Amino acid sequence: MTKTKQHFDIRPLSDALGAEIRGVDLSQPLDADTVAAVTDAWHEHIVLLFRDQDIDTDRQIVFAEHFGDVGVRSRPAERRPEGADYNASIMLVSNVKKDGKYIGSLPDGEMWFHHDMCYDKAPHKGTFLYAMELPSTGGNTQFANMYAAYDKLSDDMKQRVQGQRALQIYDFATRETVDISDDISKYKHEIQPVTITHPVTGRRALYVNPLITARIEDMAEHESRAMLDELFAFADDPSIAYEHEWRLGDLMMWDNWCSCHARTDFPASERRMLRRCTVKGQPLHE
Ligand code: OGA
Ligand code: MN
Repeated sequence: MTKTKQHFDIRPLSDALGAEIRGVDLSQPLDADTVAAVTDAWHEHIVLLFRDQDIDTDRQIVFAEHFGDVGVRSRPAERRPEGADYNASIMLVSNVKKDGKYIGSLPDGEMWFHHDMCYDKAPHKGTFLYAMELPSTGGNTQFANMYAAYDKLSDDMKQRVQGQRALQIYDFATRETVDISDDISKYKHEIQPVTITHPVTGRRALYVNPLITARIEDMAEHESRAMLDELFAFADDPSIAYEHEWRLGDLMMWDNWCSCHARTDFPASERRMLRRCTVKGQPLHE
């Protein structure tokens, strides 16, 4: 197949973040100029949407590979509902059941705001999610612009978060943080800066979230709780957010270093299935 430059339009999805890329067919090989232009758009808009795509697993991975090395899932193989033998780079985000058992991860209901893989030493940079089956209502994915979340902090808070670090810890749940009075060694966890400088754009972003961030380090528990609750206000601020109503064939790619995402509830009686892969990242610094 020849690789020809695909001319595309960029259409913002909201005032806060997100853009639809129109005119790129992800089932075809992309040339270097197209990839460079998509990469620039990604860094500018944080979340990109490609509609009406017809791609199998291999094509999704080929597309993701333009933006980095495709990552392997962080969940241990024996704890993956997809099965230990399933493609280690692919997660099915699904509530579909076979023989009474979920065939995918993150099955049902609402999910709190989070950065994918912030509990990892080198958080994966990008997530690629492709819609294959959708409920008739709900199951929207909400995205928050974490540059804007940082910019909106008071000057006082910007000073107070300087140099702070937080414990990021995760047990693959959707609506609860890990209980850290427990033995935390059995959970994936990492200490990360509370704000990070995006390695590519050089912009500062808030890097805490209600699902995975358990405490601010070197601070009394009640002070840490109060600071986190104040920082988590971003999750209720529609002015920095975009809520995506999925259509079949949508592929969304988002930057995990400067955005968070959440999911709205949907009927458990209806099927939902999306196919996910990620590209690797690097350690993040304030
Ligand atoms: C994810 C995720 C949200 C959704 O795949 O990382 O958080 O809408 N998915 O299912
Ligand atoms: Mn996620």
